[in-house]
Amino acid sequence: MATPLDLAGRVALVTGASSGIGRATAEYLAERGAAVAVAARNDARGRETVETIVANGGNAAFIHADVENPSDIATMVEWTVRRFGRLDIAFNNAGMTGAVAPFHEQSLDDWDEVIRTNLTSVFLCMKYEISAMLESGGGSIVNNCSGAGVIAAPGLPHYTAAKHGVLGLTKAAAKEYAARGIRVNAICPGFIDTPQLGRFIDSPEAKSATVAGIPMGHMGQPIDIARAVAFLASAEGAYISGDTMFVDGAVMCR
Ligand SMILES: NC(=O)c1ccc[n+]([C@@H]2O[C@H](COP(=O)([O-])OP(=O)(O)OC[C@H]3O[C@@H](n4cnc5c(N)ncnc54)[C@H](O)[C@@H]3O)[C@@H](O)[C@H]2O)c1
Repeated sequence: MATPLDLAGRVALVTGASSGIGRATAEYLAERGAAVAVAARNDARGRETVETIVANGGNAAFIHADVENPSDIATMVEWTVRRFGRLDIAFNNAGMTGAVAPFHEQSLDDWDEVIRTNLTSVFLCMKYEISAMLESGGGSIVNNCSGAGVIAAPGLPHYTAAKHGVLGLTKAAAKEYAARGIRVNAICPGFIDTPQLGRFIDSPEAKSATVAGIPMGHMGQPIDIARAVAFLASAEGAYISGDTMFVDGAVMCR
């Protein structure tokens, strides 16, 4: 019988691990015993994540990865396997929202960047992660999606389309690799207190209005998402695949 949320001996990879949800998840997976490949585009902040993990007695190493760059993604996965010997858990988290504007004023450049960062990157991460996991007999992939993966985020048609696509990739791979020991799930965070959200909710008034719409009465913290990722990645989630888990204080059930 496995110990609950015991990730000892497992190797995890987290993208966008320099801040917010990615950093908290890298730290939490390490706390539960996993060796963590900390992937980030910001080297200084990515290395800080590693330093925190190591200072707390965990095992982690840094790899530079800009997920807009396909060769960075291939190298990131190949390096993780070389550095830690295998890949068991992947959290595809790196993302950005793009400019808020009415649909008809959106630019093709913005569309391309948001799709590349939030959707194409997840496809490429999964492609290489699945190859690595097939080599070692299985694994668990968790994609960081959003409420915008199931309903529209006003002013963000590119982000909405990309996150809807992330759920499609999640389901496609879950079905295709279920018999080969690879589970694939998505998490839809609600309003989580991170730098990304801070760019939208930038005043006490905006924060009050947001919180008023959250049935639990408060925003989530990055650790709330980290715990859900650890659960899905652990033996506790052994029969869960192709699922979309909402971690949002009950926002989406209204
Ligand atoms: N905070 C929320 O309320 C919320 C809600 C729903 C979904 N999300 C999703 O959570 C994920 C993490 O966001 P966050 O809230 O922690 O914000 P954040 O800004 O703290 O973190 C985003 C991370 O992604 C990284 N990133 C962005 N573009 C990248 C690129 N090209 N290559 C590598 N890294 C890149 C950033 O450097 C950063 O580390 C995103 O996918 C976001 O869409 C967040």
